[in-house]
Amino acid sequence: VVDISKLYAQTGAFTYDPGFTSTASCESSITYIDGDEGTLLYRGFPIEQLAEHGDFLETCYLLLYGELPTAAQKADFDYRVTRHTMVHEQMQRFFMGFRRDAHPMAIMVGSVGAMSAFYHDSTDISDAQQRMIASMRMIAKIPTLAAMAFKYSIGQPFVYPKNELDYASNFLRMCFAVPCEEYQVNPILSRALDRIFILHADHEQNASTSTVRLAGSSGANPFACIAAGVACLWGPAHGGANEAALKMLEEIGTPDRIPEFVARAKDKNDPFRLMGFGHRVYKNYDPRAKIMQKTTHEVLSELGIKDDPLLEVAMELEQIALRDEYFVEKKLYPNIDFYSGITLKAMGFPTTMFTVLFAVARTVGWIAQWKEMIEDPSQRIGRPRQLYVGEPKRDYTPIAQRG
Ligand code: ACO
Repeated sequence: VVDISKLYAQTGAFTYDPGFTSTASCESSITYIDGDEGTLLYRGFPIEQLAEHGDFLETCYLLLYGELPTAAQKADFDYRVTRHTMVHEQMQRFFMGFRRDAHPMAIMVGSVGAMSAFYHDSTDISDAQQRMIASMRMIAKIPTLAAMAFKYSIGQPFVYPKNELDYASNFLRMCFAVPCEEYQVNPILSRALDRIFILHADHEQNASTSTVRLAGSSGANPFACIAAGVACLWGPAHGGANEAALKMLEEIGTPDRIPEFVARAKDKNDPFRLMGFGHRVYKNYDPRAKIMQKTTHEVLSELGIKDDPLLEVAMELEQIALRDEYFVEKKLYPNIDFYSGITLKAMGFPTTMFTVLFAVARTVGWIAQWKEMIEDPSQRIGRPRQLYVGEPKRDYTPIAQRG
């Protein structure tokens, strides 16, 4: 319908790249991925080393400031984050507006956006100090909101943060403590959760991070931008994949049914995909999936869960897919979501919380990317073009004459 050459003449040449598979939208010095090698670096440091030796708040410092902190810088950073963990008491009333069976991600989209109203003093993005306060507030308060979303969804009272605990332990306590019982944080589970947070902290220009950058490019306040990121993360092709992967493993049920599901995944007429397999950038094993698999074993062993049928199905499915010509040819390997669902389920989180935990971890990546964009002098409002394929120009017909 449309004369493309005329369109180009009018607009100048531009690339047509659905899904931005080969378009860089920005320069960034935060995260590097080599998808062919299966390498992931935060500020140059391999994810394996950070997950093994570091903790999540150290990773947050690294992503925000570009260097690992000294002991004094780390202590100061931990203190500053900890000081902000409480949310305004009125937030509780905001929560009461949600139906009691609301999906915790729906509550997150709303409550993170609502932070713009509660903390409007740090929405002035022109002030570097305010930008940092907003960043601290989000890293500190989003776990509190996430735990509140969980408690609300199961009808239990909210648990206030206890700031002598580390980040992951505090989160576990806010999720699982109940007023009438003593709650002791299990250090193995806390360490595992901390590692899961490190693995999810940033992943360059994925869909939700690009959403945060695009929202922020118009000058929107940081809380609104991160709420946009949370909304994007919710999709099953992105952060919702761990929930979908676990559901798939449960549906498969036993190893003898794996070939049936693998055959479905290969069938072009069946929309079914092996959830937790494949990645836009990794055409090799996702390095986070390897660490996640190890963490799964540690958690199950700590909890005394032997012969978990889901783990059995997952490991067998992985082996079958890795040998299958279709998956080999298309370079489809397990991604981080393949094992994370099993681990989070064993820890006691319902599937509806999986993406919420991802959002808690990714908050720092979103903020670091948002700050980098705001502080980049070449930053312009994001405004993709399109190839128009609709009707050519035509005249309006009054409704009485439309038949
Ligand atoms: N199962 C079966 N086939 C698959 C799968 C899969 N999981 N993933 C990709 N393919 C096939 C596609 O059908 C396509 O085949 P074709 O070339 O014959 O048409 C080919 O592999 C390429 O797939 P695309 O969808 O074009 O790849 P894209 O880069 O756009 O998608 C994605 C990547 C969305 C992750 C995809 O692999 C997928 O849907 N995986 C399952 C969902 C999932 O695990 N998402 C988590 C991503 S990681 C994260 O967000 C933390």
